[in-house]
This record gives sequence, structure tokens and C-alpha cells, in this order.
Amino acid sequence: MEGISLGPVVQLVRTLACHARGRGFESRPDRLPLSREAAAKRIDELVREIAEHDYRYYVLAQPIISDSEYDRLVRELKELEEAYPELRRPDSPTQRVGGTVTKEFPVVPHRRPMLSLDNAYDRRELEAFHTKLLRYLKAQLTDLAEPLLYIAQLKIDGVAVSLHYENGIFVRGLTRGDGEKGDDITANLRTVRSLPLHLQTPNPPPFIEVRGEIYMDRKDFLALNQQREEIGEAPFMNPRNATAGSLKLQDSAEVARRRLRLWAYYLEADEEGSLPASDYERMHLLKKWGFPVIETLPPSPLPEVWDFITHWEKEKEKLSFDIDGVVIKLDAWPLREKAGFTAKAPRWAIAYKYQPEQAITQLKGITYQVGRTGYITPVAELAPVRLSGTIVKRASLYNYDEIKRLDLHLGDWVVVEKSGEIIPKVIRALPERRDIFAKPVEPPTACPECGTLLVQAPGEVGRYCPNYRHCPPQVIGRLEHFVSRKAMNIQGLGEKILKKLYEAGLVETFSDLYRLTPDKLRSLEGFAEKLPEKLVAEIQASRQVPYERVLYALGIRHVGETAAQKIAEAFPHIEALLSAPEEELASVHGIGEVIARSVRTFLDDPENQAEIEALRAAGLQFEKKASKREGPLAGKRFLISGKFEGISREALKSYIIEHGGIYASSVSQNLDYLVVGADMGPSKKARAEALGVRMITLQELEALVGKPVEVWLSRD
Ligand code: IVH
Repeated sequence: MEGISLGPVVQLVRTLACHARGRGFESRPDRLPLSREAAAKRIDELVREIAEHDYRYYVLAQPIISDSEYDRLVRELKELEEAYPELRRPDSPTQRVGGTVTKEFPVVPHRRPMLSLDNAYDRRELEAFHTKLLRYLKAQLTDLAEPLLYIAQLKIDGVAVSLHYENGIFVRGLTRGDGEKGDDITANLRTVRSLPLHLQTPNPPPFIEVRGEIYMDRKDFLALNQQREEIGEAPFMNPRNATAGSLKLQDSAEVARRRLRLWAYYLEADEEGSLPASDYERMHLLKKWGFPVIETLPPSPLPEVWDFITHWEKEKEKLSFDIDGVVIKLDAWPLREKAGFTAKAPRWAIAYKYQPEQAITQLKGITYQVGRTGYITPVAELAPVRLSGTIVKRASLYNYDEIKRLDLHLGDWVVVEKSGEIIPKVIRALPERRDIFAKPVEPPTACPECGTLLVQAPGEVGRYCPNYRHCPPQVIGRLEHFVSRKAMNIQGLGEKILKKLYEAGLVETFSDLYRLTPDKLRSLEGFAEKLPEKLVAEIQASRQVPYERVLYALGIRHVGETAAQKIAEAFPHIEALLSAPEEELASVHGIGEVIARSVRTFLDDPENQAEIEALRAAGLQFEKKASKREGPLAGKRFLISGKFEGISREALKSYIIEHGGIYASSVSQNLDYLVVGADMGPSKKARAEALGVRMITLQELEALVGKPVEVWLSRD
């Protein structure tokens, strides 16, 4: 089934969009550009058009407009909604970015219980399900058409949700909860890009309920875990846990960042008569209305269902998300009604569960890794064993509680498994094969790197090395974070060099970096001749990095990029932050109690205070720069190209922004100036010439500003 084509409509609507802009809408924001009536009409068009593009992008993966064209539509809609807030529709795509904070999710009863399914683990059990169902139906129907036809669908390993649409508009979304009632997580679900906020049909049924699974792609899960580790938060065990954790977040703006996705697999209505009797056709309808529908086998007798099962067992690793089996359901709804339910599951469906690939091997020992924040992760060292085509030597054990739960003893034979997740895990020990003298694995008491006694934070499972200041992996990890791209963006300082600097006693704190000189660096073995000057210049240029990124770079636990931005907005000067009570921090939108406490603890530490002071003295930004649109470069768009001796691109970019300029992303007609350095690419030059963009030198730029770019030459 193809997505319905709206091509011509989109074209028409886009023409209208150009007209709206042509009326000078963007250039005169002080005046209402459209009458209320015209705005209402335009909002309707935009909501529909953007939904169509979301569908093409997130469901079909076939976008037809560029990101910037898309952004322009959203911006236009946002501006109209700001001018006429009462015209904001519940299905407006502007709601996808979240923003509502829910303290407690209301509990709402399900219209019909959300039951689980019985499981089958092999062909025999699947056949037993079929025979029993056939017998049950035959006892009631004399004219049963045979063979029974089933649809089969991939069983997504995610979190089940129930979605309500009234007159075609998404109005409510619930978790499964206890099956009878679930949490109302509507605001969080609106952020799921592939979930339609309205049905793509001019005459929707008055009410429908769609059930489906919210899930996370493996690559998004891995990226999320990496981000979490960067800010000292415990990683999620698998994509399903990450999804469940995300849906329970109180801040929907944070949910929006989690890249959750939907697969729909079930449709019912208040007026059942209005829907097709075949479930397969219902899946078509869902697709037509704009839902992403999971891979489904057309109505087939049991042997073909079996082929589908075995096919996907082989192919499942190629999917971008985890599945844990196949769901087999009777296709005909009238027959489903006859079959009915047992106390816990429908009689007309069964879940065929794949056995995750397992292997048995021996636990050689446990090592403990120390992270940047001192978090200790136990790792099982295994006798090498083959599993899903790779040799496994290590498995993550997450934390010491997991070791206790598994009751691991040194030398144990253990079952390891790889079920979709990339990292293998230890499922259980085999105590019957245990040596009688085997010793249980004891929790680590001291840090394997620095010997400091470990602590367990109240309410947390993990253990930490509290030697924040001097434990080597913590010091190096912290420095690595400080110089990373999203933080101070100092290039040329990798883990190896940082380690060298640390071991040579040159760098332990962040501020030590700013005290480095080319001569000091030259004294180190293995530093190339030219490198020291360049490195010192890079470090010095990072002093222009804005305040919010400096806050992020400090590596305060739980403070990610977004939290740092929010803190910087609420406390635009470090003085204000230093004296802010915990409650005040916690009351900032998007900053919860955990972050507030962590920030306070960090700032209350006298050594951290001294370090902040040292960084300030070194010239780092501890004040939020108001967007200086009044500066000498006010409102003008710039781009730089080529090389500038002694000045990094980052420094030049900061210089432009600091004086009111806007930094553009490419050469376009909108560009006012292209700042040209040495070795500029010929194609860029040609394009700039063709578009008549003014090209200026660094000196001309400095003349515009009336002040030279500050360059920090290394001095001893
Ligand atoms: S149909 C009443 N189809 O598996 C029948 N469920 O073990 C509703 N699941 O609670 C279920 N993929 O969360 C169905 N294609 C699929 C599914 C699926 C995943 C989940 C669902 C359900 C659980 C049952």
C-alpha cells in the first residue's frame, strides 16, 4: 500500500506560502500580517502540509522538500500561532517539540483491557494453538470456512500504547499500565514524529483506537547511552528500557529529543461496522491514514505463517530495531469475536518468541572500569566463545546489583546472550556446574585505578570512586569532556596527549590548559616541531566559547547541553549562579531536583569555586552575551572561507557573532559578506561571484567592526 499522493495539493499550498511571504509577512513582524480569518485558513493549510511532509520524511523516508524549506513552513506556522494563540490546533506540528511539564500523569481506564498474549516457542506449540482455536470455533460454527487465515506481524520489542482519535484528531495516548488502566502520556506521545496528529482523510470516523508499539532504533539507543555516559548518568540496558524511561519523563521537550518512533498494529472503532472485517485491510486503512504499520504477512494458512517466522528469524539482525518474535492473529474480526478471550489473553492470537542466541562459557574474572564521573562498571571477562557470528570475550554487567542478582562466583559457567543488543550480556550462572570452592564475586571496595574507598550514593545502585580530583581516569575523562567538540571545542587534544600532559604533571585542572606554553609543550617527548604553537593558539581561542558551553564543559554531573543552556538563560552571570539556592535552580523550567542538587554540590565545593575563578582569570566566558543585534555588524550575514594566519575559524566565527553578525551556513543570495582567507575553494568563489555576494578580507572585516580580532600569541 502506497501513501496517498498529495503532490498537486502540496504544490498549490506551497505557492500560497510564497504569496504570504511576498506580502512582507516576515519583514514586518510588528504588524499583524493577516486578518484573523485569513490566518485561520493559512494555519489549516500549514498544519496539513507540514503533517504531509512529516509523513513523507518519518514514515515513508521519502522527503520531497529540503530541511530549510520545511523549517520555513514551521516558522511561518509558529508566527501565526503566536499572533493568534486561540487558533492553535491540538494537532499542530508545533506541539511536537514538547514543552509541557507534567508532575503526575493522570490514570485513565482503557476502553477495553490491554491484554498480553500467550507465547509459543516452537512449531509444535504454534500448531497446538491453531488446533485448539480451530476446535473452539468449530464447536460454535457449523459453516466455518477452512483453512483459518492468519496475519503475522513482527513483534516489536518496545512499549505498548493506546492512541485515541476523535473526529480524526489525536486526543489521548495511554500506556498499558496494569492492563485495565494506563497513564495519560498524550503530551509525550505528540513528540513522536511518526505518530500522526491527525488522520489523512477528509471524513474520519467519529472515534478510533489505534494500538501500537513505541520503540527506539538501535543507533539512537547507542547515541543516547553515549550522551548519558558523557554526563555521568547510568546507561540504559536496552532500547526497550530506554523507550519506557523516556515515555515516563515529565518534561516533554526532553522526550522530543529521544527520537522515539511508532509502529501501529491494531485498529478498532466505536462503530465497528464502519471498519473492514479483515484485519489485513484494517492495516491498509491505518497506512492510508498515515500510520507506520509494521511488516505484515497477508492472510495465510499456518504453513505460510511458519515460513514468515523462519524468514524473519534469519533476517532480524538486519532491521534497525529490536524484535523478539512474530505475532500471529486471526485475520477475520467476526471469528475473533467468536473466539473471545481467556482471563489473560485473546484466544485468536499468539506471540511466537524467538530464542535469543545463547552460548555457555566460563567467567574468568571481573574487571572494573572507572568512568569520567567515577562511576564503576563491572565487566565480565569470559573465556572466548562464538555467539551470533562473533567471538565474545567480555560482557557488561551494568552494576554490582546485577552481579548479586546473578549470584556470580569466580570460575562459574555462565549463559551469555545476544538478543538484538550489540553488547552481549550474562543471563545466568549454572550453579550445578560450580566448583565447591568457588568464591562469590565480592563488590569492589576500592577504586581499581587509585585505591580510594568506593561509595554508594543513596538511592543509586552504582558505586563511585569519590576521588574526583585525583583519580587518573576521572581527571583524564574530565579533561577529554572539557575539550570535546560540543564543549570548548579544542582540537588536537586527544586522550593520548591529555594523558601525556597529565603524566608529565603539566595539566590536572582545566585552568592548567590555559597556562600551557609552547616551550612547556616542547619539553615533552614526541611533540612535533610545529604542534606546540598551534595547540596553544587553539586553547587560547577557546576563551571565546560562550558561557552555556563553558557550563557544559565543566562536566557537572547530570548537566547535559540542554540543561546547561537552560541554566545559562536563567542565570546569565556566574555570580548569580554561584549564589542561587537549590530551590531556585530546581524551579527553572526543565531543571529538576536531581540536576539542581548536582549543580549546587559542585558549586559549593571550594576547590571548584577556585577553579571557576582561575578560568575567569584566564578569560573564559562566564556571562551570557545578549544576542548583540545592535553591534557594528548588526543583522548582517557572514560566512568565512579559506585560512587566516594565526586565527582559528572558531575564533573568527565568535568575533562575528559577538559584534552582532549572523553566521550563515552556506553561500546563498541572503549572504551579505564572504570573508576570504588564503586558499579559498574555487567553487565557493565562483558561486559567490555568480550571486554577487560581497567578498572582503579579514582587514576589511576588522575595519567594519572597528576593532581587531584578538589573537593570543603564546608568550612565556
Ligand atoms: S497485537 C490484543 N501485534 O506484544 C492483541 N502486539 O506479548 C494486541 N507487540 O502487549 C497485541 N508487536 O505490546 C501485537 N505486531 C504486534 C506487536 C505486539 C509487539 C506487543 C504488545 C503486546 C505484547 C504481547
